Amino acid sequence: MEAVVLVGGQGTRLQPLTIRTPKPMLPFAGAPFLTHQITRLRAAGVEHIVLATSYRAEVFAEHFGNGKELGIRIDYVTETEPLGTGGGIRNVARRLESGPADAVLIVNGDVLSGHDIGAQLELHRRREAAATLHLVEVPDARPFGCVPTDSHNRVTGFFEKSPEPVTNRINAGCYVFARHVIDEIPEGRVVSVERETFPGLLEDKQMVLGYVDNAYWLDVGTPRAFVKGSSDVVRGVVDSPVLSGSVGESLIDPDASVHPNAVITGGSVIGPRSVVESGATVHSTVVADGAHIGSGAVIGFSLIGRRAVIGRKAMLNDVVIGEGAKIGENNELANGIRIWTDAVIPDAAIRFSPLP
Ligand code: GTP
Repeated sequence: MEAVVLVGGQGTRLQPLTIRTPKPMLPFAGAPFLTHQITRLRAAGVEHIVLATSYRAEVFAEHFGNGKELGIRIDYVTETEPLGTGGGIRNVARRLESGPADAVLIVNGDVLSGHDIGAQLELHRRREAAATLHLVEVPDARPFGCVPTDSHNRVTGFFEKSPEPVTNRINAGCYVFARHVIDEIPEGRVVSVERETFPGLLEDKQMVLGYVDNAYWLDVGTPRAFVKGSSDVVRGVVDSPVLSGSVGESLIDPDASVHPNAVITGGSVIGPRSVVESGATVHSTVVADGAHIGSGAVIGFSLIGRRAVIGRKAMLNDVVIGEGAKIGENNELANGIRIWTDAVIPDAAIRFSPLP
């Protein structure tokens, strides 16, 4: 079984953390996000993965190599110019080994999902579909691609980000394609699988199925979602083979140094070579490698970049701190603020208080 993982996006919503590191390689519940996806695919029977890379392509190969350490074969195909989701899938076709009718899994590289991949594949094979999409039901479908289906699970339309969604079923970013569908995507140009490939399949009267599965699902493309997803994996709300059952309130790397008085809760991660000083509180936060959290600092629902330094008694809530940034003592930052890579905020320079 083969899978293509789309990992070529720029991850602008997670800037500045994605300036040097592509989104799927950001630390997440003790490993790069992509490691969780790869191990889940392996558990579903995938033996060969092709990563469709573009932005910061070299970072993936440097980390995963040929995949041997994860017990899977990994190949890379890099777009010199980003070709979009459909173009990226077409571009990897030459590395696929499946026959024309074989099922190939396609996964967006920023989706955390607990759905039953085996059941999705089974539906696809049993009905001999051209494509079978994982669909989830969400309370507010406006920001997503809506995918209505009929009573036989056949997809009847695709509606991208509509103000009045026709259904609450959305495209969850994991597809099974018959191999020949990949070969039929136009080559060498930008193609959106959502806007062009799927509607084209419907026009051609090919069988496109929706596999509805409402297990845990999260698009981790925003800072808030990224932190939530990582914390959920650490706390065991959703399983990942990377943690294999050892879940709890925090995940502290053996090479981190955390003072016994510090309180680490809410599924927080403390990365390798990080230091957390006495009296600091870290809740539902990802602290990347080599960061330093000063004594008495209080941090919640935030992403702290590599080698960032957070001063004594700083209060951070719902923020992103770029790699190498230095936050002076007694600052208060909140409400989705982003501090850029290597920026320096002097002591007591920022007080967050809501406008009267
Ligand atoms: P934002 O810039 O924050 O929207 O993130 P993104 O660049 O990752 O875009 P988006 O979330 O829409 O992408 C969905 C998935 O497709 C992600 O896994 C991306 O890595 C991937 N992707 C998006 N565009 C391309 C592309 O041009 N080529 C390839 N190979 N993958 C892409």
